[in-house]
Amino acid sequence: MSNTDNQSFIDCFRNAAPYIHAHHGKTFVLQIGGDVVASDAFTHLIHDLALLNSLSIKLVIVFGARPQIDALLKERNITPLYNGALRVTDEASMSSVKQAVGDVKFQIEALLSMGLPNSPMEESAIKVASGNYVTGRPYGVVNGIDLELTGKVRSVEKETINARLGAGEIVLVPPMGYSVTGEIFNLSSIEVAAQVAIDLSADKLIMINHDSLLKNENGETIRQLTCEQAKTKLDPVNKNHIDETPSTALALGIKACKAGVNRIHYIDQNIDGGVLQELFTRDGVGTLLSGTPFDTIHQATVNDIGGILELIEPLEEQGVLVKRSREKIEIDIDDYIVLVRDGSVIACAALHQYPEEKVAEIACMVVHPDYQKQEKGELLYELMETLAIKGEIKTLFLLTTQTVHWFIEKGFVEAQLEDLPVKKQTLYNYQRNSKILIKSLD
Ligand SMILES: CC(C)(COP(=O)(O)OP(=O)(O)OC[C@H]1O[C@@H](n2cnc3c(N)ncnc32)[C@H](O)[C@@H]1OP(=O)(O)O)[C@@H](O)C(=O)NCCC(=O)NCCS
Repeated sequence: MSNTDNQSFIDCFRNAAPYIHAHHGKTFVLQIGGDVVASDAFTHLIHDLALLNSLSIKLVIVFGARPQIDALLKERNITPLYNGALRVTDEASMSSVKQAVGDVKFQIEALLSMGLPNSPMEESAIKVASGNYVTGRPYGVVNGIDLELTGKVRSVEKETINARLGAGEIVLVPPMGYSVTGEIFNLSSIEVAAQVAIDLSADKLIMINHDSLLKNENGETIRQLTCEQAKTKLDPVNKNHIDETPSTALALGIKACKAGVNRIHYIDQNIDGGVLQELFTRDGVGTLLSGTPFDTIHQATVNDIGGILELIEPLEEQGVLVKRSREKIEIDIDDYIVLVRDGSVIACAALHQYPEEKVAEIACMVVHPDYQKQEKGELLYELMETLAIKGEIKTLFLLTTQTVHWFIEKGFVEAQLEDLPVKKQTLYNYQRNSKILIKSLD
């Protein structure tokens, strides 16, 4: 390994450490569609899941088998019956459903055990549990067509699943539901995963898929969605149907989120190591659906001082910001607001008020380079201005060496030292020769 490789490995490992700690003992439910099972990347994915198990994450894997079922039906000259995106499972196709689901289940079990000698998890003995954890009921008649043995989830055996997870086993849940009358129903893996996540009060529901719904108009992955934003993306025609489509994945993600599963992740099946990147890096690679916005903005407390210092120190070294000691920030901490993502301060700003003169200074306004040009600076500035107006401030000012134009675009104009509060004038550093900008709020 070269020195650069060594360093990037060390950086990656250090950056992942808080996530390794945070995920320890947590319950994650993963939904894997049948097309993912059929893809070349599947072996890597299963090995990555084995790695999660070794980090003491409690894992439930719910898999689908739609393409495998269709392939078997074709082999047997049975035409697959669909009502829209919903499969009609008649007696003739049920034996193919059972066989395809069984094949996929064995394939996953084999990869989690036999495949390990050739994988990075060579020494670990992973135990897999599977069983009749889900009870089903008939889906019923939709648009006049009886879906027969296609079903919906009736209930989930959460105590049994929790017991298996508690024993350190990975729980594998097929897309099948059993009934008290001995019938077997063909279920949507997405519905099973969402319901299992809800009933277990899982910490995360992770769906591996390929979803054009979650891309913006430039084809880029939408990184975060709140439930309210996600609702606007639902297909109005099919939104009440439970099938294997991306729209169902989104609708059931919203349902799970509202039922208390705090984070729903959608990860593109084509990204090698996508699950690891999503779980162990700050920004991940998929779409995160959550009930509340991912970034939070709040008045800083002493707990944020470390994060503020980490953010501003590089700019102090470059001379963009004037140097502030930890003690100074601590004294002024009530003046600061911070924008926090996943526990890290990614932007901050301070508003120092001179109430007698009805003047306030905007200071220490920084957005982390990784998050610039996303209007976070604008957001912070608007908040500062609102706080100033609330505090009956009539004039804002600031000193800057390199950001003059950014503030001029916000309505600031150049001013003289005499325009500043007297207390501030005496502190002016002639060597820095900062520009003085002011804005009237009247
Ligand atoms: C200035 C700063 C806070 C803006 O944050 P941001 O989240 O990127 O801001 P926005 O997304 O709202 O605005 C981005 C726009 O500002 C422009 N901009 C960024 N820095 C600028 C600067 N120093 N001077 C002029 N314009 C600047 C960008 O080019 C972009 O314009 P564009 O979209 O037309 O290309 C950020 O660049 C920063 O942290 N800079 C270093 C610290 C600093 O100078 N702070 C001010 C001292 S108090």
